[in-house]
Amino acid sequence: MTGAEIIERCQVLAGMSETPGAITRTYLCPAMHDVHRTLRAWMEEAGMDVSIDAAGNLRGVYGQGAPRLLIGSHVDTVPDAGAYDGVLGVVLGIALVSALGRRRLKFAIEVVAFSEEEGVRFGVPFIGSRALVGRLDDELLGRRDARGVTVAQAIRDFGVDAVPTGQEACPTVGYLEFHIEQGPVLDSLGLPLGVVTAIVGQSRFDVTFRGEANHAGTTPMHLRRDALAAAARWTSFVERTARATPGVVATVGALHIHPGATNVVPGEARASLDVRHADDAVRQAVTTRLRCAAEKIGGRRNVAVEWRQQLDQPAVACDAGLTAMLARAVQTHAPVQRMTSGAGHDAMIVAAIAPVAMLFLRSPGGISHHPAESVYAADVDAALAAGMAFLEELERSHV
Ligand code: HGY
Ligand code: MN
Ligand code: MN
Repeated sequence: MTGAEIIERCQVLAGMSETPGAITRTYLCPAMHDVHRTLRAWMEEAGMDVSIDAAGNLRGVYGQGAPRLLIGSHVDTVPDAGAYDGVLGVVLGIALVSALGRRRLKFAIEVVAFSEEEGVRFGVPFIGSRALVGRLDDELLGRRDARGVTVAQAIRDFGVDAVPTGQEACPTVGYLEFHIEQGPVLDSLGLPLGVVTAIVGQSRFDVTFRGEANHAGTTPMHLRRDALAAAARWTSFVERTARATPGVVATVGALHIHPGATNVVPGEARASLDVRHADDAVRQAVTTRLRCAAEKIGGRRNVAVEWRQQLDQPAVACDAGLTAMLARAVQTHAPVQRMTSGAGHDAMIVAAIAPVAMLFLRSPGGISHHPAESVYAADVDAALAAGMAFLEELERSHV
């Protein structure tokens, strides 16, 4: 399969969305049935046995028994997304198995289309990969979306009746994830591929500022408990703090105001917060500072602050041995560029049960989580060739 054909397949999947005219696929939304039907056909065409697991992950196994090499990524998206974040890793995994031309290796290959990585619908990411490593616990299954539907109900509504099993039964030789870089580094260096050495840690929070709604015309400024004024001041503090701390990125990506009318002093402002850094101690110190600032800024305006953590994901190092093998595989097709990932990936969860390696493909213009997200066909060709060289070396090293 050529890079152009793989891109075409990603475009086919991009047409499967819960919002007409945009690419949006949240956890087990109706459009995911079309994605599963299409991926299942491609997996079966490549000679895989296909199943869906208890968290709605679609799984195609090539070859029998153990041990297995897992190749995967996610098929959900952020709202108004691009066509490659996640799905490219699944389509490339299927293309790699197809390229074997029914040749059997000493290990099986399992391609996993993770059902949810972005955390859009339920506010917590990595539901699919957490299920794979046995972390889909009752607390998570009981999480509710904006309509009050629980994760467990969403799984039943999708028609999955299997019960989440414990940790992955089958021993794995490793996990390989192809993913777009989603940043500007490879594009700025003019390089097609990047070998990931580590994935930065990330914290996510819901921060609710609660003041008091009141009449915009009759309430004097000094008597207001303006939740949005507090949230806005805090948001600029978040940005200033991140700019001043090397290596930190911090984002207030969502802000919901209540009641949200022109002539009403905002009574409530609910903000999201995403903080990342390669060093967990720095990330924790920054989030503590931002929490203190929220409480101080709120206090000065008689606005209460509720701080709820949604995610505390430590930084994860990719496996040195597999990553060295991946670098050797890349070397035959492109210069080797080692780099850390500022984006989170399923690999950081799967690392609990298997050594992980990740291969980045250049993001032209460094843009992602945006409809303009793209990849070059030549880079996809190079990734496929590097993936094949990786399989060959894994085969040779397998006794
Ligand atoms: O948010 C992330 O880092 C990834 O795109 N889910
Ligand atoms: Mn993403
Ligand atoms: Mn992704």
